[in-house]
Amino acid sequence: MSEIQRVGVIGAGQMGGGIAQVAAVSGFATKVYDASSDALARCRALHEKLLARAVEKGRMSQEDAEAAKGRIQYVDDASGGLDALSDSDVVIEAIVEDAEVKRDLFARLSKMFTGDQILATNTSSISITEIAAATDCPERVIGMHFFNPVPVMKLVEVIKGLATSEDTTERTIALATKMGKTPVPANDRAGFVSNRVLMPMINEAFYAWMEGVAEPEHIDEIMKLGCNHPMGPLRLADFIGLDTCVHIMDVLADGLNDERYRACPLLKQLVAAGRLGDKSGRGVYEHAR
Ligand code: CAA
Ligand code: NAD
Repeated sequence: MSEIQRVGVIGAGQMGGGIAQVAAVSGFATKVYDASSDALARCRALHEKLLARAVEKGRMSQEDAEAAKGRIQYVDDASGGLDALSDSDVVIEAIVEDAEVKRDLFARLSKMFTGDQILATNTSSISITEIAAATDCPERVIGMHFFNPVPVMKLVEVIKGLATSEDTTERTIALATKMGKTPVPANDRAGFVSNRVLMPMINEAFYAWMEGVAEPEHIDEIMKLGCNHPMGPLRLADFIGLDTCVHIMDVLADGLNDERYRACPLLKQLVAAGRLGDKSGRGVYEHAR
């Protein structure tokens, strides 16, 4: 069993960018690939900003920040594409929450990685077994579910698919721990634990807004002050990405086969209007980018 030294991250959005940053800070040689060069440029700029802030706040020395930056390589299609990640010991996928797109990618990954590399997915809700079934190495596929913002949040939900091996699970737990995270197991049911519980609450907040129970600001204030949540559910939806929230609700509705998980029409309407939350500059609220 080879030791994990090189981490490949696929997707440089909110989650992939955070995972790549934490991997590099934790000492791993890290490559992050995105199909969009613009997303990669934003990811690199955010790394610069967050590492400079860590130095300013005295959480990291200048030398350590420089060393972490030096361990990250940003890859787009012009600089090698996905193939440039082929020397990775583990790949962590963080692309769009769409089962078909993820299955296509994992089918390709299983042809690229024929040794004992781990193929991890950061999916929020999609069945690990279903993603793994697109490969010919389901024993090496696992859910490694980080939380947003990755540099701050301690949890990694670890989800085994039907065929995931003990060896893959143990190495994933060791990796998450080395990244400074707390791995906690959950079973492979739609939404696992985190989004089975969190996302219906967020969805219900959209229904409350749609039905005029209160204004968005008041819904958020009530949940912040009344339940001690750091962000209200509508603010959190913007933070997660409204498109991702709809994808997760669709997976819950299909996977748990229950009408109560259908995405709120108002949430779907905002997505249709391109109001995706922080990442597009506007969702429930306006956001400076
Ligand atoms: N990336 C990296 N670091 C960030 C960040 C980001 N996007 N946003 C904030 N931070 C850091 C800041 O740098 C700051 O650290 P310093 O004080 O050392 O500079 C620290 O977090 C606190 O930030 P702020 O003081 O600006 O703001 P805050 O106290 O309101 O905290 C927050 C911000 C940590 C995001 C907090 O509001 C929070 O915990 N919100 C809830 C987050 C949450 O629930 N995440 C889970 C989402 S669900 C999910 O991830 C699963 C899924 O599948 C959808
Ligand atoms: P995002 O929209 O911020 O980023 C996705 C990135 O993937 C984009 O930069 C896009 O260009 C890239 N991409 C899409 N298809 C690609 C492909 N085939 N090859 C390479 N790059 C591709 O999304 P995100 O919020 O980072 O979410 C990514 C994954 O993480 C999703 O599965 C989501 O459910 C999961 N997740 C999200 C959160 C959250 O709070 N946003 C939390 C935990 C897990």
